[in-house]
Amino acid sequence: MRLDKFLVENGLGSRTEVKQLLKKGLVLVNGRAEKSPKTQIDEAADDIIVSGQKLSYEKFVYYLLNKPQGVISATEDNHHKTVLDLLDATAHQKAVFPVGRLDIDTHGLLLLTNNGKLAHAMLSPKKHVEKIYRAHVAGLMNHEDIERFAAGIELKDFVCQPAQLKILEIDEEKETSLVEIIIAEGKFHQVKRMVAACGKEVTDLERISMGPLCLDTTLALGEWRRLTEEELGALEIFEVEL
Ligand code: URA
Repeated sequence: MRLDKFLVENGLGSRTEVKQLLKKGLVLVNGRAEKSPKTQIDEAADDIIVSGQKLSYEKFVYYLLNKPQGVISATEDNHHKTVLDLLDATAHQKAVFPVGRLDIDTHGLLLLTNNGKLAHAMLSPKKHVEKIYRAHVAGLMNHEDIERFAAGIELKDFVCQPAQLKILEIDEEKETSLVEIIIAEGKFHQVKRMVAACGKEVTDLERISMGPLCLDTTLALGEWRRLTEEELGALEIFEVEL
């Protein structure tokens, strides 16, 4: 890989900016100051130090975002802010993308990565990755609804796989419910449509987990962090290079 590309991908600035760093002799490759941006390096083996700090090359990067409402799960859009707009320069340089989609008005856990194989595995219907959603519902959800979810709700265009509905709170006066829904599919508007099939309406939807990853409640809406070593370890179940 070219040295300037490596430095840009490590978030040290634009190509022009890293050229300046090189010119000033601030970049050491295996202990020697390199001044040419074209220098070829072996990013996995060479020792690269910039202004006294050692850089390490990351092939894949993983971001855990608490997606807010009003932002779309895409990498670019002409009309709306996207989840990529919430991340840092490295996310853009590494070309991360969201693993699956949440509706514009859904908030909660969203994983973004540039690891295509992991994304493919996590989204594959064959892998049955469970997603847990918490929904505020207009209407009183009841035992019959729990049974309908368990049996597999029939929608206009497909029959849902058996899913779990847990009623967490009921407000009889306001006629509202707080529920948790566990599904292993990810069809368009699926949770909202399943609740609508029971004659009720989702008024707020939050995803709290996806496979082994859980929403980090210390992240405010719109905040993100990189996955921890522990979370990366948990993704080994997908049997892809991480
Ligand atoms: N189901 C929905 O209806 N919307 C989402 O954003 C996710 C699951």
